[in-house]
Amino acid sequence: MFPCVLNGPVRCWMKHCISRRAFTALRPRIVLGIETSCDETGAAVLDETGIILGESLHSQKQTHLDTGGIIPTVAQHLHRENICRVVQEALDRSGIEPNELTAVATTVKPGLSLSLGIGLEFSLKFVRLHEKPFIPIHHMEAHALTVRMLHPVDFPFLVLLVSGGHTLLALAKGIDEFLLLGQTLDVAAGDALDKIARSLSLRNHPECSTLSGGQAIELLAKEGNRLAFHFKSPMGQIYDCNFSFAGLRNQVTMAIRKKEREEGVETGQLLSCVKDIAAASQHTVASHIAKRTHRAILFGKSKGLLPQHNPTLVVSGGVASNEYIRQILKIVTDATGLHLLCPPSKLCTDNGVMIAWNGIERLKQGKGIMSHTEEVKYEPKAPLGLDITSEVKDAAIKVPPLKLRINS
Ligand code: KG4
Ligand code: ZN
Repeated sequence: MFPCVLNGPVRCWMKHCISRRAFTALRPRIVLGIETSCDETGAAVLDETGIILGESLHSQKQTHLDTGGIIPTVAQHLHRENICRVVQEALDRSGIEPNELTAVATTVKPGLSLSLGIGLEFSLKFVRLHEKPFIPIHHMEAHALTVRMLHPVDFPFLVLLVSGGHTLLALAKGIDEFLLLGQTLDVAAGDALDKIARSLSLRNHPECSTLSGGQAIELLAKEGNRLAFHFKSPMGQIYDCNFSFAGLRNQVTMAIRKKEREEGVETGQLLSCVKDIAAASQHTVASHIAKRTHRAILFGKSKGLLPQHNPTLVVSGGVASNEYIRQILKIVTDATGLHLLCPPSKLCTDNGVMIAWNGIERLKQGKGIMSHTEEVKYEPKAPLGLDITSEVKDAAIKVPPLKLRINS
């Protein structure tokens, strides 16, 4: 019951006492966010100012590293095993009771069907039991907007999302308004790095056995000579903002097999030049991302899509935690006068906080809040915003050369 400061938890009829309804209106709104779109089971309780009251995350990374990739049924099983505990932990750490929540926000698209299904099933049971509004969340929109929890970034801004499942460039015009400028035509950057790491057998490297492919490549690349190998940068003659990493992944795999034959190394053993290959692969991925991003900036400027004052590039997704890639992107933003913002690594990878924050953004604008949930479905495939990639291609902007070189 509402505690009256004068009379304790009783009905209070005194004139100066704030009514229960008014008190509720003054209390900050609080959202429980739930994420299960891929291989992390995440939950977080956030207030409307972006303060994380409680959170919990169960990562399936180690299991998927052991099996050499994500097996959807295994991911589903692990989400099912952990979701209840993860949500309970987030609530316990926050000290918030379910009845104090303003709403529950959950990722419903895009992602692995079997994984999305677990989060949605759990959430719908939860909101029905506690009679709470439900906010369905687009995973990529959530990645794109996480930065606003920490920095006052106004719309519009340019956003680059690079993860294991996605690589795309978009213009964020509002919380649910995006223009898609480019996306990967085959595999995502993180997926390519994961496969390269596997071809290099980095699981058997003493410093890399618990790291994701991208993290392992970044670590080894620090001591490698990127000039020892030359991999062709993808799509050099195509003047759009799309990406492609499958060809690069194949080039690197072929170079690895060749070296294995030369060194008489069996598959599974480590090559002597493993650090050089890591450095060269990382650089080629970074420069491909940088060139497409450079073009997106020039396109945005030429069409008046970016603000004159303090135009910003936001970079997020698991691969955005790569320091080398961030530094290469900084060269691009410095040259074009943009401000570069990346959420901290912990918020770049999948988590419940970004979903709860997206719920807060939607609550504040009264967008997409559902009190009836019978119709809610998950959607494995869901584009981000309005696709204007062909308009970008038609503009055929030639990017001036930039020295993408980092002094280590
Ligand atoms: O966003 P995320 O946690 O999950 C989704 O894919 O949605 O991203 C995971 C991806 C993996 O491919 C992983 O190898 C990559 O992000 N990654 C990195 C780094 N940390 C994680 N790639 C490059 N450098 C890193 N430091
Ligand atoms: Zn993600």
